[in-house]
Amino acid sequence: MPVKKLIAGNWKMNGLRADAAERVSALAQRMTSIQPKDFDMLICPPATLLQDMRTQMQGSGLLLGGQDCHAQEAGAYTGDISPLMLTDMGCTHVIVGHSERRQYHKESSPDVAAKARAAHAAGLTAIICVGESEMEREAGYAQKIVSTQLKESVPDTATAENTVIAYEPVWAIGTGKSATAEDITDMHAFIRGFVADMMANTAWLKLLYGGSVNTGNAPAVLHTPNVDGVLVGGASLKPEDFWSIAMACEDMPTE
Ligand code: PGA
Repeated sequence: MPVKKLIAGNWKMNGLRADAAERVSALAQRMTSIQPKDFDMLICPPATLLQDMRTQMQGSGLLLGGQDCHAQEAGAYTGDISPLMLTDMGCTHVIVGHSERRQYHKESSPDVAAKARAAHAAGLTAIICVGESEMEREAGYAQKIVSTQLKESVPDTATAENTVIAYEPVWAIGTGKSATAEDITDMHAFIRGFVADMMANTAWLKLLYGGSVNTGNAPAVLHTPNVDGVLVGGASLKPEDFWSIAMACEDMPTE
């Protein structure tokens, strides 16, 4: 079982250099003084902030990640960022297949698999996001949708070490409507079972929950079986809230 939880913040398209510096310094100070043993803290800011944040985070133990990457190492792809560029910036992780990328950029699961494969080749841990829409859940297709996304989005380069799966039901993202502990328990057990055919040592694979995680629901979410961390959007922009979400992991009995 994963020993440390992963508390990941996805800033999305938010943050200018000045406010980002304040947020990072608040978190870096806490990390340095507490040196948490039960969680790793990852921040995925917009690419424009990576350079500054790399310096600001130095020595704090905070981890840096990208929000997306291209499937190629380099080339004529205007506006895109390659996984190698993220590694070059000090990133250890990259989010791929976020539902906002799937929805607004029409990324398909095979696109996501190609990105995750490229991320692995560049030495990054790929956080592969999956999740059903509200209509799909109501129609009873949640597991079918998630298993199809997993089958098509997780490349054959994936291992329990270089991959994290984030279950993010689309209806829970940015809506204030988090999935129930029961929904999360069922889906995470299903995901862990499903990926067992796709890679070895899946007991060690980190499974994150994402979707309206906040200071109120984080302790319950992080205590749910098979939840090895959280992917946090809105609340990760407030350092006190993000820190308090992470602190819900401290001294938690390991599963
Ligand atoms: P939210 O976003 O926490 O604001 O719901 C989560 C995500 O999109 O990763």
